[in-house]
Amino acid sequence: MSNLIALCPGSFDPVTYGHLDIINRAAGMFDRLIVVVATNKSKNCSFSPEERVNMIKKCIPHLPNVEIVHFDGLLADYAAKRGANAIIKGLRAMSDFEYEFQMALTNKKLNPNVETLFLTTATENMYVSSSMVKQIAGMGGDISGFVPEVIREDIINRIKK
Ligand code: COA
Repeated sequence: MSNLIALCPGSFDPVTYGHLDIINRAAGMFDRLIVVVATNKSKNCSFSPEERVNMIKKCIPHLPNVEIVHFDGLLADYAAKRGANAIIKGLRAMSDFEYEFQMALTNKKLNPNVETLFLTTATENMYVSSSMVKQIAGMGGDISGFVPEVIREDIINRIKK
């Protein structure tokens, strides 16, 4: 019997409605979805990996087949370790494509057993990014359209000057 396992990687600094839309949809497509809070070496994160994992956990208590982990190495290695068949990414706009294409090809080279699949983001999340949410929170703006209520205070308390 097939047991389809997918990884959904990202910095999630913090998770937004854009990521949650992808996680919800991917959870319905695979037996198990592992959300991987990973490291992008070119980013300085505002939240620790544990904080990012906990924020995601708070947002998706309704998804029993989703696991949330922190992993600090190569995603391709983690996919092999967990026996994952797929890596799921959300594509927001054509501007995401080149970077995502490069990552997908690199991961395929490092681990030929894993396929990267792209889901198109919902139109209302096309322009959302974690940095934008932090910038709005830092200037006292309303972030309720971008992140669920359960993590709003966590973000505001961390970001406000
Ligand atoms: N809706 C809205 N926004 C989204 C989104 C969605 N569906 N998906 C991603 N975004 C946003 C993110 O919030 C992020 O915003 P930010 O730049 O303001 O922080 C931006 O789009 C980029 O997200 P993503 O493409 O997921 O990049 P990332 O930097 O968050 O994650 C890793 C990249 C961590 C997955 C990648 O570096 C990785 O795999 N690292 C592990 C080490 C490794 O294997 N390296 C080699 C990779 S080839």
